[in-house]
Amino acid sequence: MRIILFGFGIVGQSFAKLLLSRSDDLYTRYGIKPRIVSVIDSKGYVISQTGLDLERLLQIKKNRKSVYEYDYNVTLKGLRDELDIDDLLSLDAECMIDVTPSNLKSGEPSLSYITTAIKHGKNVITANKGPLALAFPSLIELARYNNIMLKFSATVGGGTPILEFAKHCLKGDDIRALRGILNGTTNYILTNMENGLDFNDALNDAKEKGYAEADPSLDIDGYDAAAKLVILANWIMNRKVTMKDVEFSGIRDIKKEEMNKLLKKGYTIKLIAECNDQLAVKPREVLKSDPLCVNGTLNAVTFVSEHSGELTIIGKGAGGMETASAILRDLIEIREDLGKI
Ligand code: HSE
Repeated sequence: MRIILFGFGIVGQSFAKLLLSRSDDLYTRYGIKPRIVSVIDSKGYVISQTGLDLERLLQIKKNRKSVYEYDYNVTLKGLRDELDIDDLLSLDAECMIDVTPSNLKSGEPSLSYITTAIKHGKNVITANKGPLALAFPSLIELARYNNIMLKFSATVGGGTPILEFAKHCLKGDDIRALRGILNGTTNYILTNMENGLDFNDALNDAKEKGYAEADPSLDIDGYDAAAKLVILANWIMNRKVTMKDVEFSGIRDIKKEEMNKLLKKGYTIKLIAECNDQLAVKPREVLKSDPLCVNGTLNAVTFVSEHSGELTIIGKGAGGMETASAILRDLIEIREDLGKI
């Protein structure tokens, strides 16, 4: 399976490591032999039609250089600014994977990469929330029209299969509402504030560990949780909504003193995203005994369904390897579906 990989930061590199460590298993269990034929990072790109050597690529990144430095069996390489996306996406490949940083204002450049990939007949896996948060209904329509698989498990919940849980495991039931913690970074900061750390130290720690967005204000001010809520609302509850339909705010103004007072009463503060009559992301007081009250980078979502009642799924919501595992899940599904054709 030939793959074009857009983005080679923490998630892209984790995905490469995962492919290396799982290569035997992927072949014996799923018949997949992934071959990355192109990687694009923030400074350059490299193409090798016979497949890039992932160990060499990872070594280049370890030395803080661009993939442009790769020089083994290269078909073509160059600077990012000189890259013609249309040409690149004309390469022979079954799948384009997008792990570029999220831009929640315009969705670009990822939105153009995805639409161009679809028009060139490439199946798409994206971990980038921007395009979906801003244009979910039209992207799904475009993919369907072109008979292309568009997968986005990694956009919500990191490695935790929140979207799949609701879409597949609750098939036949009617999900009436949902509420949850959808941002690992803010949950990590709030948990650390409960434990006495101040806001900035907790944020720096989250940045170092690779949980935060390239622009951490996307986490702190609620944009990231709002984007994930839009994806959930569209995919799980058939709402045709985008970012502009969400009322949201973040955790910047929460004070340790306020938190301490609530803790004494058995409550804490969590950044809660909810979809019922309206879509909102806001800091809320939550009982410490509520199943949603998870700590660290954990995400948790409670689905309120007509017949099964309330169901809560909990798991790690951020981190390179966790997100890479969701991308691999999507890749396996694409392979399985291609096998049926
Ligand atoms: N910055 C995001 C978070 C990463 O903290 O949840 C995973 O989407």
